[in-house]
Amino acid sequence: MTYQYKHEAVMFEETIEALSIKSEGTYVDATFGRGGHTRGILGQLGQDGQVIAFDRDQTAIEYARSEIMDHRLHLIHANYESISKKMDKASADGVLVDCGLSSPQLDEAGRGFSFLKDAPLDMRMDQTQPLTAAGWLKNAQEEEIANVLYLNADERRSRRIAKAICEARSQSEILTTKQLSDVVQSVVRREGKTHPATKTFQAIRVFINDEFGSLERFLEGALDVLKPGGRLVMISFHSTEHKIIKRFIQMNRPGNEDLKRGLQTLAVPRVKRIGRVIKPSLQEIRFNTRSRSAQLRIVEKIA
Ligand SMILES: C[S@@+](CC[C@H](N)C(=O)[O-])C[C@H]1O[C@@H](n2cnc3c(N)ncnc32)[C@H](O)[C@@H]1O
Repeated sequence: MTYQYKHEAVMFEETIEALSIKSEGTYVDATFGRGGHTRGILGQLGQDGQVIAFDRDQTAIEYARSEIMDHRLHLIHANYESISKKMDKASADGVLVDCGLSSPQLDEAGRGFSFLKDAPLDMRMDQTQPLTAAGWLKNAQEEEIANVLYLNADERRSRRIAKAICEARSQSEILTTKQLSDVVQSVVRREGKTHPATKTFQAIRVFINDEFGSLERFLEGALDVLKPGGRLVMISFHSTEHKIIKRFIQMNRPGNEDLKRGLQTLAVPRVKRIGRVIKPSLQEIRFNTRSRSAQLRIVEKIA
């Protein structure tokens, strides 16, 4: 198989520096994608170091198997939320997560993530998962659809779009990206440069892949597998992802023991923040527009 689509690793230099790599260490890349960051980590490791790379997308794992021959790389096809089940406690010197979709997932029409290409309405990151976007839209209640659009992408026309989807599907099932995009465009006018279906596609994708829930569960698991002194480096793109990460840091850093006691969680702070949030340079944004909403945060495990 040839893999024609490339993914530019976001904030590459900053991410590798943030991990503060020890040459014989064990590092987790929770979101392998096309391995941009993994290659950077491998480049800093000695012969006894290792990278454990997760991806829930079978194509990403197949790509890694065929393109990176390196005895130090271990691949796991799984949702990163299972990190603490797949790895020993306190076994990693650093963990990286780079949320969201890779460019190949967006660009490959057959995956059904993009309204710019007509394809079956799939949207599963993990092709072994049973529920597709088309499958969900077939039976979901109008109110449930509206809530997904509103809560996952702040789509303020959520009720109008949900109603239009239910009316359209009573005529014929919505099976393709073009059908869904046409339904949205029938009730939402374009405002500025943004395509009217942008938020609908984003919201349904987040829902089908339970992206926010997975991230929350992952962050707790990542702390368990990190050694004390190990770094957790988090790149997020969506405002809700930023919020989840900020809340996680807030809950686990020193100074919040009372708050934690109130919530009946651990009273012992588990992380300290390293530096402030990092954003891509203007030069990177010009070269890779996908990086424009990226934010990088770093914490170090203290207990
Ligand atoms: C932004 S890309 C990562 C790009 C990568 N850092 C690189 O340099 O090539 C995100 C990747 O994470 C994967 N992914 C997203 N959510 C995941 C999850 N919950 N568990 C495992 N992999 C996930 C996606 O399938 C995608 O391949």
